Amino acid sequence: MTSIYRSLNLILLGPPGCGKGTQAKVLSEKYHVPHVSTGDMLRSEVRRGTELGMKAKEIMDRGELVPDSIVGSMILRRLDEADCARGVILDGYPRNVEQAGVLDGILAELGRTLERVIVIEVDDDVIVRRLGGRRSCPKCGRVYHMEYNPPRDDATCDDCGIALVQRDDDREDVIRERLRLYHEKTAPLVQLYEQRGLVVRVDGNQPVEGVTEGIVEALGTPLNR
Ligand code: AP5
Repeated sequence: MTSIYRSLNLILLGPPGCGKGTQAKVLSEKYHVPHVSTGDMLRSEVRRGTELGMKAKEIMDRGELVPDSIVGSMILRRLDEADCARGVILDGYPRNVEQAGVLDGILAELGRTLERVIVIEVDDDVIVRRLGGRRSCPKCGRVYHMEYNPPRDDATCDDCGIALVQRDDDREDVIRERLRLYHEKTAPLVQLYEQRGLVVRVDGNQPVEGVTEGIVEALGTPLNR
């Protein structure tokens, strides 16, 4: 945790594949606050074959957004857990103006504030290349890229030794739909949070370490409000 923050509630905002999950993992270890990803939570429901997971899978495979009510209750339950008391790194939530309103309500009820909204900016053509090459371990969830961050041994997880898999929504037609929805529904949140003086923009087109440095530097600067 940096000394200028008593708590650290962050939103990582940016298009699919911009590196939210990759950066959230590094920041979570650095600042000792949990990484909360609605995408990961939904994929865990899918893997466990729950009713919610089966409903969500069809929607996710089309690249559409799961209903606000479902993700809203998931996030409320998660943020109320003890490990989130000193902060959280939100990845994939909120995704539209309605969800941003729900998050405001949850944070107010829990007596917390949002410290920063990190916007990771990446060009659309880079996104398509990144998501096309993404593979992950079905056991531990570790994320690789076959070109930029390949596993040591062909296509198996360095930690678990089992075959890596491609996400069902990382097909090019689905990636295009996810990008379209990002620009229509999620990008307007940048302006909303900008009006509150919370936004810092980081160039996500650079290598992973450069993006991390940009975020850490931004977090070291005083709040603009
Ligand atoms: P979600 O899981 O949130 O997907 P997303 O936002 O589309 O983002 P991704 O996880 O695809 O990408 P990322 O930005 O985390 O990139 P990553 O670090 O993996 O959501 C999936 C679905 O769930 C949604 O479509 C929706 O249906 C549903 N959902 C989730 N939340 C919802 C909500 N709030 N409301 C409604 N529905 C919701 O990196 C990508 C690849 O690039 C990796 O291979 C990585 O190794 C590589 N990489 C990362 N950074 C770099 C770099 N700097 N240079 C080179 N390669 C890099």
